[in-house]
Amino acid sequence: MAKEELVENMELGLISDDQIREHIRIQLGKRLIWGYKSTHEEQLSQLLDLVHSLRSMKMATEMENLDLKLYESPMSFLKIQHGSNMKQSAGYYTDESTTLDEAEIAMLDLYMERAQIKDCQSVLDLGCGLGAVALFGANKFKNCQFTGVTSSMEQKDYIEGKCKELKLSNVKVVLADITTYETEERFDRIFAVELIEHMKNYQLLLKKISEWMKDDGLLFIEHVCHKTLAYHFEPIDEEDWFTNYIFPSGTLTLSSASMLLYFQDDVAVVNQWILSGKNYSRTHEEWLKNMDNNIVEFKQIMKSITKSEEEATKLFNFWRIFCMCGAEWFGYKNGEEWMLTHLLFKKN
Ligand SMILES: C[S@@+](CC[C@H](N)C(=O)[O-])C[C@H]1O[C@@H](n2cnc3c(N)ncnc32)[C@H](O)[C@@H]1O
Repeated sequence: MAKEELVENMELGLISDDQIREHIRIQLGKRLIWGYKSTHEEQLSQLLDLVHSLRSMKMATEMENLDLKLYESPMSFLKIQHGSNMKQSAGYYTDESTTLDEAEIAMLDLYMERAQIKDCQSVLDLGCGLGAVALFGANKFKNCQFTGVTSSMEQKDYIEGKCKELKLSNVKVVLADITTYETEERFDRIFAVELIEHMKNYQLLLKKISEWMKDDGLLFIEHVCHKTLAYHFEPIDEEDWFTNYIFPSGTLTLSSASMLLYFQDDVAVVNQWILSGKNYSRTHEEWLKNMDNNIVEFKQIMKSITKSEEEATKLFNFWRIFCMCGAEWFGYKNGEEWMLTHLLFKKN
């Protein structure tokens, strides 16, 4: 079956979940065969080729394609999909019984601990999404001042509404694209949680971020990664439907766990941690459960934002496939291929 036909059939609901997951795993297996080289020398030179090419690219590309589909969904849908902290990134599952809400909080607590947040600090949260990090931090550390940066007006409105509801006066939200954002303010701590995936030139990005850090400031980054491979999300062959299905061409670069260590011109690594991909796999499974447990409302929302029954069905199934992709991707080989890394940097 040609990839267009496969995607059409999946989105029309003509292919079972088990078969969809099998199709995903086939593509993931092919990506590993494509990426793994037979000698370490070749493996390293593949990584370094990408490192060098990123240095001559723009800070980010094609963002307009990404925001529309992935990050500008109606709030009513996002509330169904996510946990109560509206965290649009991985949770941290400490055991088998951990719920999505608990996993969100466990991960947010881990960020605060690893970034060494203390009261009275100024904290910048880049690519703040629906404010999970800033709202959690501001609530826990009432004398810290959090500034979230988002490029979405809807996200800004949501966070400001939440601040009123929670009576938080220590959160400010700035509407800006990070690649063009400028500020004279200097911060004790900076977070970038699952943001660098959408960036290309990490040298330019880290240079810019380092200018916003106080001399003794720290930068905390979480990003998804492969343990060894790094690549732009571009299809590997004619049959590869998976690579650009969620992330349109040019909008995502997958870093290896060690990738950012090659970009220490303006910041220096203080610590690094690895988290099993199983954490993100479980998160996607939980998001899928949330949608399936609210299926009537979920379908209704999809209908209200599309022009026909068929489009609504396709969008509904897109979001279900999105979750299955994430669950299989990060769950592959028990979470030991694609995973998450945390990095803490100081300013050079
Ligand atoms: C995976 S989400 C993570 C959101 C949030 N950090 C969280 O953990 O819930 C990535 C976020 O980065 C934002 N983003 C990506 N590129 C951006 C840019 N150039 N400027 C501002 N925000 C950006 C997206 O809009 C999205 O909200």
